[in-house]
Amino acid sequence: MKILLFGGSGQLGHEIREKASNLNFQVVSPISSEVNITNQQQVDFLVTQLNPDIIINSAAYTAVDDAEVNTVECFATNSLGSKNVALAAKKNNTRLVYISTDYVFSGKNIDNSPRTIPYLEEDMVNPLSVYGASKNEGEQHVVNICGQEGLIVRTSSLYGKKSPNFVHTVLRLFTEGREVSVVNDQFMLPTWSGWLAEVILDLVRIPKETAHGIVHVSCGGDYVSWYDFASRIHELTKNNIDGAIASKVVPVLASNFGRPAPRPNFSVLNCSKLSSWLNRPCLNWDLALQYCLREINVL
Ligand SMILES: NC(=O)c1ccc[n+]([C@@H]2O[C@H](COP(=O)([O-])OP(=O)(O)OC[C@H]3O[C@@H](n4cnc5c(N)ncnc54)[C@H](OP(=O)(O)O)[C@@H]3O)[C@@H](O)[C@H]2O)c1
Repeated sequence: MKILLFGGSGQLGHEIREKASNLNFQVVSPISSEVNITNQQQVDFLVTQLNPDIIINSAAYTAVDDAEVNTVECFATNSLGSKNVALAAKKNNTRLVYISTDYVFSGKNIDNSPRTIPYLEEDMVNPLSVYGASKNEGEQHVVNICGQEGLIVRTSSLYGKKSPNFVHTVLRLFTEGREVSVVNDQFMLPTWSGWLAEVILDLVRIPKETAHGIVHVSCGGDYVSWYDFASRIHELTKNNIDGAIASKVVPVLASNFGRPAPRPNFSVLNCSKLSSWLNRPCLNWDLALQYCLREINVL
């Protein structure tokens, strides 16, 4: 199988490249200075020349807070870039997988009450941030342009061996032996990008007649706050990292954290569609965390 991967230098893309080559798939993954997805001609030329079996678009502007001011740049990559890739895929009759986010949801019900039930694929989107809005537009392009040839994989709270991400950040703060303040009123399911990459490569081997449209993919288990997640990382690693035993995780409210981009207080994804497609449950987030911590040699 020949895969064209955009975003291969990123946290998730890196894992997809690694797992795909283990499966003996051919992966072509230009860096953004070679092919920028905001440039329609560059994308078109590559897709026509390469004629891949699958295109995976994992490229994105992911700086959620910076996006609040760099709106044009964010929409260029996440909306226009997605459109360019979708148009090239359609023109070449190639199946497309677009990676999207739980931040298309608001964490609130229609009557503005707090959401407490995991989101299904067909639930109404209502992004709070510029990043979420740009990814939502990216999704719309895939739906409108690709039809059955398009698969949108919505995932959440990624971490993995390639930094930067939340796990690497808290591990670094633990080594400084400090109090680490972490939000305890935003709930999600943390997802290990190593597992997600394997799932994406499983999905592209399911016939498009089954695997098209939107699918939610996150690790499983009971949902947690970022504070719970950081506390578990601390519990698992404190004896293995110099300085970490003196460190402490402290809960804070998101409203006291002062981040520029609003985030949903609840963005847990219901992944039962995925489980039925793959015929297996999602990997428990706690187990996934332990696999990742072992991989980066802190467990
Ligand atoms: N991180 C999360 O917690 C999270 C959660 C939910 C969903 N997602 C989604 O998952 C996907 C992967 O996220 P990630 O964390 O792996 O992202 P990442 O580490 O920030 O990597 C982003 C990738 O996109 C590439 N890129 C950015 N702008 C580009 C452009 N204009 N043209 C071509 N390539 C471009 C980057 O390449 P350069 O470095 O060369 O610019 C990099 O390879 C994204 O679609 C993201 O929206 C992420």
